[in-house]
Amino acid sequence: MSGKATAVAPSNIAFIKYWGTRDVDKTLPYNPSISMTLSECVSRCTVEHDSTLAANEILLLTDGRLEPAPQQFAAGIERHLERLKVWAAVEGAFRVATGNSFPTGAGMASSASGFAALTLAVAAALERPLTESEASLLSRSSGSGSAARSVLGGYVEWPDDGLEGPATRLAPADHWALSDVVAVVSSREKDVSSREGHRRAPGSPMWEGRLEALPERLRRVREAIADRSIDDLGPVIEGEALDLHLIAMSSRPPILYWTAETIAVLRRVRELREEGLDAYSTIDAGPNIHVICPTAQEGDVATALREMAETEMVITDRVGDGPYLTEDHLG
Ligand code: DP6
Repeated sequence: MSGKATAVAPSNIAFIKYWGTRDVDKTLPYNPSISMTLSECVSRCTVEHDSTLAANEILLLTDGRLEPAPQQFAAGIERHLERLKVWAAVEGAFRVATGNSFPTGAGMASSASGFAALTLAVAAALERPLTESEASLLSRSSGSGSAARSVLGGYVEWPDDGLEGPATRLAPADHWALSDVVAVVSSREKDVSSREGHRRAPGSPMWEGRLEALPERLRRVREAIADRSIDDLGPVIEGEALDLHLIAMSSRPPILYWTAETIAVLRRVRELREEGLDAYSTIDAGPNIHVICPTAQEGDVATALREMAETEMVITDRVGDGPYLTEDHLG
């Protein structure tokens, strides 16, 4: 038996970060995170299940062509396919072709969109319809916690309760038009993976302080989203990102994701506010800066960031509706 399906899933940017893994095998976090699902930065994944195939075939879209995926990349996909085979109770193997709409190394969370797309495509190829909650939990089992959020559109919280549940939607994309203007200052791969960062985080002397501050911070972000208030959201997300990096910098051994260019952009975003724009920074596990602003201001923010000698590239993205299935297959 063979079935073929393609899923497109977006990346997301966290306002309150998932940082620190309480249970590595189950990918359970220490704290709930809140993110905005994006629309332009997406992964497209085509999966064909073949019950007679002996081994998986994994292709990655590279410079417009499908090529055998590099070993480390393919290994992550293989591991997730094994879990999905157990979940679906099927034998055989898969032909997988996957690709991103955004350049690799652009600091976008490609594992979030990639594993969400893979999960949805496998389920569709096997004709196993998933609820959003099932899709979130299955995507999380890839080991990428942020993938648990990428299966939903709009503004998303994960986990919904008790730190074991799936992601839930706080508000749909059309509730509030926000943009994420990404200042890429380095497209080099980061030296320390998020996985390793999660592992080291509880060793930081700053760790407990952030956990104590989080319930109030989460409440303020949920409220700011409900009220569509960038004035309330912005300062909280900037403080939250700084805390993540202070924890990383004070982990043992320390992790320094920032470069001199990161700090230059952080300063420029502060100036943009003095010049009247509602622009606020957040930074994931890398040197690149995501500038969150009302969509009406994204052009001004992108122009200002492009003018900086420190930026290699500027990518403009917006809140989006989440993943979908399509007949537009890769390969
Ligand atoms: C800093 O373990 O989900 O982006 O699988 O490497 O994308 P990857 O990361 P994951 O951790 C995400 C860490 C973060 C914050 C966040 O997105 O919540």
